[in-house]
Amino acid sequence: MLRSFTILAFVSGALLTSCKSSDSPFYEYMPDMYRSAAIEPYVDYGEVRERYDENRANTISAKVPPFGSIPFFGTDKEEVLMMMPYHRKPALGMDLTHNHYGAVLAADYDSEYLASANDKNPIKLTEANAEDVINYGKSVYAKQCQHCHGEAGDGKGPMVESGAYSGVPNYASLMIAEGQMFYSIYYGKGLMGAHGNTVSKKEIWAIIHYIKRLQDENYGKFGAAAVVAEETVEVEAAQ
Ligand code: HEC
Repeated sequence: MLRSFTILAFVSGALLTSCKSSDSPFYEYMPDMYRSAAIEPYVDYGEVRERYDENRANTISAKVPPFGSIPFFGTDKEEVLMMMPYHRKPALGMDLTHNHYGAVLAADYDSEYLASANDKNPIKLTEANAEDVINYGKSVYAKQCQHCHGEAGDGKGPMVESGAYSGVPNYASLMIAEGQMFYSIYYGKGLMGAHGNTVSKKEIWAIIHYIKRLQDENYGKFGAAAVVAEETVEVEAAQ
């Protein structure tokens, strides 16, 4: 008798505390263990513990961060600073051609690109770090750029060789300043899409060191045989 009463009490207790959700056909025991009271990403808050909210049904709770949010992390000051937003604006019209929807655009087509010629690579090469930085740039380049630009940077990547794509320049004859390379890689240019969302600023600057090594095998080399390629490129660009 006592035993069956205990079982009955347990069963009725379980039925009373369970609730039914329209999404789950069976009874939900311990709903607060399934549905957190705290807001969680990717949870539908249209129904929480039988409280219905039409306005929140079928919406995701993880919202797009506000425009201008900076995803910075880490404790290395140099790295964190490099995560700050790029200070240049995309050119007029780039919202339609290069996916910069909603961005604050420059007032014209070329002033920001031209001004970017003065921007310098914040990653300074030293005898100690040069090979590491250039190899780092090379590894990102191999994943993000090589299929168009080619392993040797001659503009003959597999995409181009297949005939699917054209108009990729040969770096050997690309005489633009490093700041302009950054601008074009970040925002895109002509048939090249923007890469600011796929590669970080730090990665772009490292790739630029690698591109300069492709342009001049002595770039980033120290010692008697080394030629400071950066100066060579800038002198040529100025002519
Ligand atoms: C889908 C093919 C494609 C990919 C991927 C691509 N590029 Fe390009 N890139 C081009 C084309 C095409 C141009 C020529 C754009 C123009 O001048 O109209 C170009 C131009 C450039 C230029 C010269 C920009 C200038 O201002 O003249 C640089 C530097 C460059 N790319 C670097 C990169 C880097 C670094 C990556 C990888 C992060 C990359 N590209 C990925 C196709 C591509």
